Amino acid sequence: MIVKQRLIFILYSLCASVFRVAATKSKGKGSQGQFPITQNVTVVEGGAANMTCRVDYNDNTSLQWSNPAQQTLFFGDKKALRDHRIELVRASWQELTIRISDVSLSDEGTYTCSLFTMPVKTTKAFLTVLGVPGRPEITGFTKPAKEDDVITLTCTTSGSKPAANIRWFRNDKEVQGSKEVNATGKSFTVRSSLQFQVDKRDDGVAYTCSVEHATLSSPYMTTEVLEVHSKDFPGPTTDPNSLGPHGPDHALIGGVVAVVVFITLCLIIVLGRYLARHKGTYLTHEAKGAEDAPDADTAIINAEGNHVHAEEKKEYFI
Ligand SMILES: *[C@@H]1O[C@H](CO)[C@@H](O)[C@H](O)[C@H]1NC(C)=O
Ligand SMILES: *[C@@H]1O[C@H](CO)[C@@H](O)[C@H](O)[C@H]1NC(C)=O
Ligand SMILES: *[C@@H]1O[C@H](CO)[C@@H](O)[C@H](O)[C@H]1NC(C)=O
Ligand SMILES: *[C@@H]1O[C@H](CO)[C@@H](O)[C@H](O)[C@H]1NC(C)=O
Repeated sequence: MIVKQRLIFILYSLCASVFRVAATKSKGKGSQGQFPITQNVTVVEGGAANMTCRVDYNDNTSLQWSNPAQQTLFFGDKKALRDHRIELVRASWQELTIRISDVSLSDEGTYTCSLFTMPVKTTKAFLTVLGVPGRPEITGFTKPAKEDDVITLTCTTSGSKPAANIRWFRNDKEVQGSKEVNATGKSFTVRSSLQFQVDKRDDGVAYTCSVEHATLSSPYMTTEVLEVHSKDFPGPTTDPNSLGPHGPDHALIGGVVAVVVFITLCLIIVLGRYLARHKGTYLTHEAKGAEDAPDADTAIINAEGNHVHAEEKKEYFI
């Protein structure tokens, strides 16, 4: 009885283990268990993305990656599309990994990994490309601003994807602007405007536009400092404004006068020298031509006259 029971038990457990093995084998080798596994990938434009496709159980069936336009990129380790940015990282029966470098916004889309069983099994992976926002620019700044004027400060950043977030700060305190987002191609242009009536207390206040985005480790910031001129004292406050164009005029006139005076002086000096040289030659010529009559007058007037007199005296003495 005991032996019979034991035999039945052994047979039973043997059957169970056989079934178990068969079950796992069918799971592993059967087409149901042969399935490509992929992951969505997110990359910043200009960066590189690895697209990985794995198959846990594969009876040497080929894997393939294709792009959103349904073009085959790699069939196993064979490159199928001429694009130097796409290269093979790893190819085995269990894995096909490719790398797309210098990714652009247009590379975004659904990539497909196919396993060529019968029928073909596919899995999709979405490649998300993030666009880096440009440095913010503030426009609408009038320098200086007049008290009670209504001004609109606009901060613009383009190229972000998804759309960047713009925040405004008045000194360190956040203020609310009105946002406007436009799609330009695949990226976005974000604009935030701040409209307010200029107050005396705005003088020297820093208005900062901050751009936040997933691609930035720290926000991009641009700051402008407001200069407010009071309307109560139009004299002293508007004077530098109205004197602005006059000041340079005075300087200009002064400069022109100085240049004219300088040129005149130069001309006088040059003319004087020229005339002196010519006079000199004339005088010598005259002196040589007629020594007697005209030179007698000059001889008397000039200091040389003494010399002449001395000579005359000498003549007398001899
Ligand atoms: C892609 O894979 C290669 C090789 O495994 C690795 O060196 C590289 O860092 C990976 N790049 C990215 C962006 O994951
Ligand atoms: C798969 O390929 C390897 C070598 O590439 C070979 O050794 C193996 O027998 C193949 N397996 C099947 C199931 O075809
Ligand atoms: C991958 O991205 C697509 C499209 O954005 C989405 O529908 C899907 O749920 C994502 N899959 C995973 C596993 O995150
Ligand atoms: C968005 O488009 C509208 C209409 O085309 C235009 O008036 C506006 O200036 C644009 N805004 C930005 C932020 O580019």
